[in-house]
Amino acid sequence: MSSKGVFPPEWSPDGGAAGWVSWFLGRVAYRLRQARSVLWPQVDPGLLAEARSRLPPRWRRPFDRLGGSEKAHVLRLYRAITTDPDLAAADREELVLLALTHDLGKSITRPTFFERVVKTVLPIPNRSHPILGARLLRRLGAPTRLVRRTARHHGDPGGDRLLAVFQRFDDSL
Ligand SMILES: [Fe+2]
Ligand SMILES: [Fe+2]
Repeated sequence: MSSKGVFPPEWSPDGGAAGWVSWFLGRVAYRLRQARSVLWPQVDPGLLAEARSRLPPRWRRPFDRLGGSEKAHVLRLYRAITTDPDLAAADREELVLLALTHDLGKSITRPTFFERVVKTVLPIPNRSHPILGARLLRRLGAPTRLVRRTARHHGDPGGDRLLAVFQRFDDSL
């Protein structure tokens, strides 16, 4: 997983403009993919069942309450993480669980269709879902590390290497 395309490139006098144009076009393409996903979410039932089976049974009900576009987002993450050949097996397991659970707070505060459309155009952060999701996971008995990463998944990863890796997937899919 490369961070290319997620963060703006450093400015440099030699060829820096080309880097910015490429980064900008990448972000436009990302926003268009997001808009398509909100308007016509693609949820593969077979992949959804496979991903859902990776969760402990008690966690599946909030997972089922996610909206179509959230499920589509989670499945894009699931597919990318399970097929990334550069990930170590232990990292992959933790990333899969984080992918399936990090946005569970949205099962509590399900954004309206209008809010989701606006957010694809304007990158407005959804401030409440990480904390709500972390509380929900704690009540479900999730490991402390998963609870903490869910709470911080839109914030500074600090020294958490795996959260930084996850954010690169999350920000591009
Ligand atoms: Fe999120
Ligand atoms: Fe996400």
